[in-house]
Amino acid sequence: MNGAVDASGITKRFGQTLALDAVDLRVEPHASHALVGRNGAGKSTLVAVLTGLLRPDAGRIAFDGVPAPPRDDRAAWQRLVACVYQRSTIIGALSVAENLFLNRYPTGRGGAIDWRAVRRGARELLDGLEVGIDVDRAAADLSVEERQLVEIARALSFGARFIILDEPTAQLNKAAIDRLFAHVRALQAAGVTFLFISHHLEEIYEIARTVTVLRDGRCVRTGPVDAITKADLIAAMTGEDAHAVVAMPRDEGPREPLVEVRALCGNGFEDISLTVRAGEVVGIAGIGGSGKTALAETLAGLRRARAGSITLAGDALPNGGDVRARIDAGIGFVPRDRQVQGVVPALSVADNATMTIWNRLGRFGVIPPGARERSARRMMDAFGIIASGPQAPVESLSGGNQQKVLLARALASDPRLLVLIDPTAGVDVKSKEVLLDAVDAARRNGTGVLLVSDDPDDLRTCDRVIVLFEGRVTAELAAGWREHDVIAATEGMALA
Ligand SMILES: Nc1ncnc2c1ncn2[C@@H]1O[C@H](COP(=O)(O)OP(=O)(O)OP(=O)(O)O)[C@@H](O)[C@H]1O
Ligand SMILES: [Mg+2]
Repeated sequence: MNGAVDASGITKRFGQTLALDAVDLRVEPHASHALVGRNGAGKSTLVAVLTGLLRPDAGRIAFDGVPAPPRDDRAAWQRLVACVYQRSTIIGALSVAENLFLNRYPTGRGGAIDWRAVRRGARELLDGLEVGIDVDRAAADLSVEERQLVEIARALSFGARFIILDEPTAQLNKAAIDRLFAHVRALQAAGVTFLFISHHLEEIYEIARTVTVLRDGRCVRTGPVDAITKADLIAAMTGEDAHAVVAMPRDEGPREPLVEVRALCGNGFEDISLTVRAGEVVGIAGIGGSGKTALAETLAGLRRARAGSITLAGDALPNGGDVRARIDAGIGFVPRDRQVQGVVPALSVADNATMTIWNRLGRFGVIPPGARERSARRMMDAFGIIASGPQAPVESLSGGNQQKVLLARALASDPRLLVLIDPTAGVDVKSKEVLLDAVDAARRNGTGVLLVSDDPDDLRTCDRVIVLFEGRVTAELAAGWREHDVIAATEGMALA
């Protein structure tokens, strides 16, 4: 029998980087097939080849036994395969219905667009998926979850029965992930084939039957999920033996309060008071809409507070709206959305990584030649940033490596307080250790850390975890909390 897709000998080179090295991949019809690998392993590159967006240097692809269409025949590719990306392809200014039928609006007599047919068609598509989204809504107002479902509906409407999900769960909370997986299972039962990419290995076991591991552009293992333990999976990804990560006990005595937040009110949160001590990591957990992101963004100066005060080492901070002033005051920041608020894609790794310390590399705004490059190289070594060099544009880096640039930049200014939002989103298991170790090193030097995350690996590094629900603090978990406690509190169950 033919595979839903059979790719063989796929090779792709970017300059010096061999991103894919003779990769073979067969995805069985109606499969849920997972693709895993460390940051930069070649997953997204393989997806770009499988969706016809990137021409491989060598190799062939067949869908259901039929050779892939020529690369410039986009319409033919769209009838075969679609990918829901980390980054949205939905156009925010258009309605849901318009997005679904973009460039193929049904027309009535005389060639005018039949808007009633557009909306009816859109409603039928979403109803077929049992998705209750109003088709007249502006796409910009959709949640990540809704946006993904609209993209899946659009792919199916083109006729595609092979759908690739590239880190679909990275920005979803547990309940939304469960709903997404329920849709995936229902569609699978209806004959749709899925290729699924995630750095959350538990999800692989939950949703996939088969897993393929890419390492350094090579396919190193493929087989049934049931037959490979999580430790073996990590070993295949890293090429090393798995070893258990042991949380280090902290025996430092209490330190002085560093940050005092008093009765802070802002966009989506009310009356928040909390203290972060020097050398302490305080976790902030909560589902989407809990206010946790807005709280962190207010501390970082990205948003203004409505009322309340923030003091840093005894000094009252002027009310926000100025990230630069907060950096100067000693606050390092890793924003949530690296594409929008984070890196400057067209600038080099060196420019991005040293942005917060330009004033320190040279006096009077003149940076000595080489200083930026040397500083960037040190950061690349320390964080294991994979790039062809400091001059490579950040947009050429894999998602996880861009995240490392952001954290390196936040740490470069020796901040007194680090505000981190989902700092390890899209980062592979090994790189996650590197990033969290770097945060811990700063903490040991006395930096206070406010860490917004729902990732258990991130939260495990926290001395305390404060849980927000609907804009208010509903629980504070002291060290020694169990994962169950966090989940119960973030979902609001502690209120019952
Ligand atoms: N357009 C490009 N130009 C230059 N190099 C690129 C380009 N796209 C990808 N690469 C390189 O190819 C390699 C594979 O990148 P890819 O994005 O496929 O990794 P990935 O497995 O998706 O990683 P992640 O988990 O971080 O998303 C990386 O070393 C990356 O820097
Ligand atoms: Mg990727």
